[in-house]
Amino acid sequence: MVKKKLLIIANWKMYVATSLEARRALQSLRKQSLVLRGAEMVIAPSFALLSAVVDATKGSKIGVAAQSVSPCADGAHTGDVSALMLKAVGAKSVIIGHSERRASGETDAMIREEITQALSAGLRVVLCVGEKERDHDHGSHFAFIASQLRSALADLAKSDAHHLVIAYEPVWAIGKSANAAMAPAALRETSIFIKKILVEHFGREAGISVPILYGGSVDETNAGALVSGGEVDGLLVGRASVKASSLAALIQACKAAAQK
Ligand code: PGA
Repeated sequence: MVKKKLLIIANWKMYVATSLEARRALQSLRKQSLVLRGAEMVIAPSFALLSAVVDATKGSKIGVAAQSVSPCADGAHTGDVSALMLKAVGAKSVIIGHSERRASGETDAMIREEITQALSAGLRVVLCVGEKERDHDHGSHFAFIASQLRSALADLAKSDAHHLVIAYEPVWAIGKSANAAMAPAALRETSIFIKKILVEHFGREAGISVPILYGGSVDETNAGALVSGGEVDGLLVGRASVKASSLAALIQACKAAAQK
């Protein structure tokens, strides 16, 4: 059941390569104003396209997020992009701890620093957590998710909860090599588990206010069932977010499922 405003984040990864492609996709998305109504839509392009996407979404309700941020505030960090730079270019949110970043070496300690940097620059944090595989015999994936969450939340105060979104993305369900998205019933169980940890850390009211998203092989055929049956507030979408028509169909499916 959707209790908060539906939040859909399009993770463009390295799929969208040029500002021309980005502008075209955004032009067609902006034409879907009726579909977008009642949902919060956020586009996360690569660093290189951030300012083009900020320009192309001006005057619309579509928000912009970065896909990552440096754990450092400033200084000699070749290739890094700081939270203040993201803020200055017009991003409002940032994805932190995506499994593809963790796989290329980001540690829990770095993720904690990135969160600190992002929050102090005034960015909303979209924190990704998720197990590599499910342990159907002993359920050890729950302990894994809990440890990722507790480590990332360690330095956060209650007031930070309002600038936080959790994206639960089981690694086995992400990307082309995945067989399918998670089943809504299993997602529901995990989402409730995540909520418990948030409440444990932030207290009941603040903990419950943190939106929980699902990500991993979401498309227009499964989005509705995942949102309505999975107890999540929205979705983090990779492959299916690149084409504006699929993205619009996916949002429409979520809205239709929520009304049932
Ligand atoms: P996918 O990616 O939708 O292509 O599986 C989701 C993500 O990694 O955020």
